[in-house]
Amino acid sequence: MKRIISIAISTTLGLFASAVMAGDLESVVADCNGCHGDDGVSQWTDVPTIAGVPEFVHSDALYIFRDEARPCSESQYKQGDTSKPATTMCAVTADLSDDMIDEIAAYYAGLPFVAAKQDFDAALAEAGKAVHEGNCDKCHSDGGANPEDEAGILAGNMMGYLEAQLADYRAGEREQPKKMEEKVSALTDDDVKALVNYYASQQ
Ligand code: HEC
Ligand code: HEC
Repeated sequence: MKRIISIAISTTLGLFASAVMAGDLESVVADCNGCHGDDGVSQWTDVPTIAGVPEFVHSDALYIFRDEARPCSESQYKQGDTSKPATTMCAVTADLSDDMIDEIAAYYAGLPFVAAKQDFDAALAEAGKAVHEGNCDKCHSDGGANPEDEAGILAGNMMGYLEAQLADYRAGEREQPKKMEEKVSALTDDDVKALVNYYASQQ
């Protein structure tokens, strides 16, 4: 009898613990979507779409923000409870456990990436395609659309976000692979503008 009761209690506790975990993920994700959009698909140019980002790339990005090892810009909530104070990715990740980061990354990796509908300049996009193919496609294949590269999704991501990241890379403020640094540091301002229009043209 004692044994049965203790099994019943531990089963209840187990269920309770997993319900709390699921609840946690749900409320964390609701907070993320306040800036990143429903199901992690952004409608705001300075915020990247995070749906469909490969699990490893996503968790790595969150670990790097938690370590404050990448620039974090302050941002207002875009939807939901917009009265919440503006915050940064460094602050958002500061108190997340490793387990929670891994759960979040797995969750968004399972959602479909949706390319943004953005205005772009067709001539610049054409020029950007050539710059991309000459310098970037080796690692960012299929025009920067292939999640299997484990290098983020550039095609159809937000122009303002891509522009800001390229500025950070060129200023040496965000770490990047050595071979990418060689390519990025050789870009002109016009190349960068062209690249961003090319990524936006993939809808
Ligand atoms: C207050 C708005 C806001 C909230 C809340 C927020 N983000 Fe962000 N996130 C941003 C902005 C803006 C950027 C672009 C980088 C920057 O400006 O710091 C970003 C960047 C990112 C990136 C980098 C994308 C990449 O490919 O490297 C990831 C990943 C990310 N956020 C995930 C999350 C997750 C997961 C949550 C919830 C735990 C979250 N964000 C909550 C605004 C927000
Ligand atoms: C040697 C391989 C390599 C080359 C070449 C390369 N990249 Fe990357 N790139 C990567 C990897 C790997 C990452 C992911 C880095 C990380 O997670 O911090 C990345 C990340 C990025 C990001 C950030 C994505 C995000 O979601 O935040 C941008 C933007 C980018 N690369 C643009 C370029 C452009 C433009 C070129 C060509 C001029 C280029 N890269 C060339 C490997 C490369």
